[in-house]
Amino acid sequence: MPEKNANLSDHARRVREMFAGIANRYDLLNHLLSGNTDKRWRRLVAESLQDILAGDGARALDVACGTGDLALALAKLTGAHIVGTDFCRPMLEVAARKAATNVSEIPFVEGDALSLPFADESFDAVSIAFGLRNLSSVEGGLKELWRVLKPAGRVAVLEFSRPVVPGFRALFQFYFTRVLPKLGGMISGSRGAYEYLPDSVSRFPDQKQLAVMMREAGLEEVEYQNLTGGIAALHLGTRPRS
Ligand SMILES: C[S@@+](CC[C@H](N)C(=O)[O-])C[C@H]1O[C@@H](n2cnc3c(N)ncnc32)[C@H](O)[C@@H]1O
Repeated sequence: MPEKNANLSDHARRVREMFAGIANRYDLLNHLLSGNTDKRWRRLVAESLQDILAGDGARALDVACGTGDLALALAKLTGAHIVGTDFCRPMLEVAARKAATNVSEIPFVEGDALSLPFADESFDAVSIAFGLRNLSSVEGGLKELWRVLKPAGRVAVLEFSRPVVPGFRALFQFYFTRVLPKLGGMISGSRGAYEYLPDSVSRFPDQKQLAVMMREAGLEEVEYQNLTGGIAALHLGTRPRS
């Protein structure tokens, strides 16, 4: 067991260092390498939580918030009280600068998604975008999202997934595994980070498996929507009322 824990913290340390190394170029690369599609995907996440955040005093947590784009989209669309959390300080510093520029009062709190620094049942909605795949335990991450959600609260998971049309899948795989690491590496100066990306996606459950895992984590009304042919998927689930 101690050996396993040592491995887990080593994984976390490597992931944190990797994001720290690309924090200042992360947004540019995201928008460039996805042709701005990432912005549309995050807006869809915000729209999927709009109704549940419509009430007075509604609160949402964006986990593994990185440079804060989803937290900002949620704040802009819903007007709810949004909190962002991530364990990589340089990513949070970029997020805080953007929030200040947008005159948005979002607290960005340093914290580990596997041990969130928030009380049980604190939020009406919890989101995680391109974060779950990076955790050393997907099950552990889902368990924490569930814990901080209020009963009847909703979780939204945006993550890379498996393109559903075979020809398109092959084309995308070529771009994702051959072109993107070279381009991303050249622009960010960290080829490793953009090799890690397709590698981590290949190890992550596909859309159907993730839906099963969310149900196993205790969520109900689990459903998903393929985005851009399944390059990404948006999964939603609800914590039971009791
Ligand atoms: C690909 S970025 C996604 C950032 C942002 N959600 C977005 O949509 O652009 C992944 C983020 O997950 C964070 N992360 C990875 N593992 C984490 C963990 N165990 N706890 C908290 N944050 C974590 C990284 O620091 C990084 O900011």
